[in-house]
Amino acid sequence: MAGAGAGAGAGAGAGAALRSLFALLVCAVLACAAQKAGGATTTRPPGKRGRGFIGIEDSGTVYIDEVTANTLKSSLTTVFLPLVYIFVFAVGLPTNGMAIWVLVIRSKKIHPAAIYMANLALADLLFVIWIPLKIIYHFNGNNWTFGEGMCKVLVGFFYGNMYCSVLFIACLSVQRYWVVAHPLTQQRMDNRLAIVVSLLIWAFIWISSTPLYLYKQTAQLADPNITTCHDVNVISRKNFQAQEMFQDVQNPYYYFMVMAGLAFFVPCVVIIVAYVLMLRKLGDSNMEGSSAGKNRRRAIILIITVLIAFLVCFIPSNLMLVIHYALLGNGFSNNGYAFYVTTLCLASLNSCLDPFIYYYVSEEFREHVKNTLLCRSSRTVERMRVSFSSMKYSKKSKIYTSSSGHTDSSTC
Ligand SMILES: *[C@@H]1O[C@H](CO)[C@@H](O)[C@H](O)[C@H]1NC(C)=O
Ligand SMILES: *[C@@H]1O[C@H](CO)[C@@H](O)[C@H](O)[C@H]1NC(C)=O
Repeated sequence: MAGAGAGAGAGAGAGAALRSLFALLVCAVLACAAQKAGGATTTRPPGKRGRGFIGIEDSGTVYIDEVTANTLKSSLTTVFLPLVYIFVFAVGLPTNGMAIWVLVIRSKKIHPAAIYMANLALADLLFVIWIPLKIIYHFNGNNWTFGEGMCKVLVGFFYGNMYCSVLFIACLSVQRYWVVAHPLTQQRMDNRLAIVVSLLIWAFIWISSTPLYLYKQTAQLADPNITTCHDVNVISRKNFQAQEMFQDVQNPYYYFMVMAGLAFFVPCVVIIVAYVLMLRKLGDSNMEGSSAGKNRRRAIILIITVLIAFLVCFIPSNLMLVIHYALLGNGFSNNGYAFYVTTLCLASLNSCLDPFIYYYVSEEFREHVKNTLLCRSSRTVERMRVSFSSMKYSKKSKIYTSSSGHTDSSTC
């Protein structure tokens, strides 16, 4: 039992029992998933079970099995994944960059929602800027040529972004509910709270990422002759033969288990509660008027966007991370690995979904996107903004919309 070897820490017996429980749960789920994903996974010779992306290290070189080698050479990892990342980069970089610009630099009035969204956009940007390395890596046949340090940065920022996003979306959801439930709230106090909460989240994410930097992420494989980044879990031959694999995977194991609980499951519950309460509040008949109707529609679109983000990005990846490391920690193999890497890739799509959140929450961002999509240069927008604000027209006034409508048709 792997727990005997890992018994260095306190409560090893309880830990082992917990891991076994995880593994049982996970095996059932995985058996189901593997059957469904069977068509999509790489060809598996009958009777030859893969070890699920672990590599056995012997004096610096890592040996993997045939299934793993095939998946690393497959078009799933060398064509499909980089194409998704190109899409994420092309959409995520400009939209999140624009969000920072609009919410931080252009914004005249600070409000809590803008603080959370600016942090969300910052988290996305910090991940998106490293994506080109990941694209090159996959197109290169999963050959990492940028060194161990850069690989750690990429991995740290990838998971940091994922958990940061979940936490900031939870904050934003609670804040949205708060605005609906208490319209006459003290904004200055809320701003201070939002800043403190944001700083705490960043501190938590930076500190909790430490385990990812503590173990070697790259693996120099023997055949194919490539260096992988994070894709192969390296087990030393000594520990493999002694059936003490857990010693070599305990860093990521504890990281992903703790994060799945604290930075995924708990925020998930908070978000669900916030939206249920918000929907009940919005459903109250004493809220009337066209602006209330508009607010309600935006709130519902926001909820749907967050729901999609969770269904596509956060739930599959966190489920598969827990499954993967629960299996590894108990010395089992994970044959649904193709499925697992795909869910991780889908997780990066959250950087493209967040801009929809900014759009439905921030009026400033919405106006800016509309202006950009109507292909007016930012200088025209600037000039119009200045002239209209000096003329003290409300942004929503009829004159503004109708005159801007004219400029659209002439400039486009
Ligand atoms: C693999 O590549 C490394 C680095 O270029 C080289 O030193 C080594 O000889 C290669 N190994 C094989 C088996 O081709
Ligand atoms: C991977 O990159 C290394 C270092 O640049 C190189 O030596 C090796 O041949 C590459 N492997 C493949 C399969 O291209």
